[in-house]
Amino acid sequence: MNQIYCDYNATSPLADSVKEYLAKGDFFFANPSSVHSMGKAAAFSIFQVSEYLKKTFSLPEHELFYHSGATEGVNTVLRNFDHLFYFSSDHPCVTELSSELDSTELKIGANGFFDKEEIIEKIKKVEGRVILNFTWVHNETGIVWDLSTAQEIKERTGCFIHVDAAQVIGKVRNFTKLNSFLDFYTFSAHKFGAMKAVGFTFYNKHSSLRPLLFGGGQQKNLRSGTLNAPGIKSIELALTEVIEHFNPEEIERKKNFIERELKALSKEEIVILGEGSSRNLNTINFLFKKEKADIVLSALDMNGIAAGSGSACSSASVKKSQTLIDMGYEKFAHHGIRISFGANFDEILIAERLKKTFASLL
Ligand SMILES: Cc1ncc(COP(=O)(O)O)c(C=O)c1O
Repeated sequence: MNQIYCDYNATSPLADSVKEYLAKGDFFFANPSSVHSMGKAAAFSIFQVSEYLKKTFSLPEHELFYHSGATEGVNTVLRNFDHLFYFSSDHPCVTELSSELDSTELKIGANGFFDKEEIIEKIKKVEGRVILNFTWVHNETGIVWDLSTAQEIKERTGCFIHVDAAQVIGKVRNFTKLNSFLDFYTFSAHKFGAMKAVGFTFYNKHSSLRPLLFGGGQQKNLRSGTLNAPGIKSIELALTEVIEHFNPEEIERKKNFIERELKALSKEEIVILGEGSSRNLNTINFLFKKEKADIVLSALDMNGIAAGSGSACSSASVKKSQTLIDMGYEKFAHHGIRISFGANFDEILIAERLKKTFASLL
């Protein structure tokens, strides 16, 4: 049986244009820092991608640097500050870093949202350069936070804002409309069809960012290390493809169909998370109360659906989800299942396979 890949929030398959580009094999291999013309050609290709990204996201006060993915981007930015405010539901690249930094943990409520006034009061009490990590789209639940809320927090407290934008491209309606008032945006290439271990961060030119990695002084000293010219090219190719084929109404219609079919399977055992909150286009996160996620994921796999839990650890086993705990589902913290889609998927076939799987589990 052909597997249907429904784990786009974990990572995405390569975009067709990226596959073609890699298959051709005539990409820039020379070191972009070299003085010879081949090196210069590689550097120019990177320059062109940067121009494309700046034009696409139109942030007049921002520059960007490339890195090995959102984990590195997040670490680079957040380590620059005297105090970090973060949510316990943030990605582990934030929560695990918090123990290294002077930090304050914040909590979301049952609907995946937070008390803005309480956070503003807390931030106001802390002195020095303070940063808030703001996850625009949550990787597990797909819950979307409003960038204008982050702007208000910044305006009223003077803190810096880092937007974790790893789960944004192709997954929310206005994913290229960044709020230029916010200081940092970090993206990860493998979440939207480009190569793994590449990413980029926009930073406000006036934010006096210091590097995480030292060495050859590449990227105006902000991130040493030989630049990954083919990986960076893949960002432009994949992003162009996402933008060209983006059909939010269609993704949402199909997702809503699957969600309705899923709910109809059992009102008692299946709980859709974040219902009633603002959610993104491609993610369904639900609890199956009767069984833990690893049992359900194996059953789905046997029935041809590759899904995720959203809280898998590095050994591919399902961890307790802190997000579920914070949303009031402590008893079911091992029960979260996440299905997440790309631009195109067969909603009828997915619904059929879900039906078959849960018929055997219920
Ligand atoms: C919200 C969020 N932030 C950061 C990351 C880390 O991204 P990367 O795999 O590029 O290091 C992820 C990956 O799942 C994510 O979903």
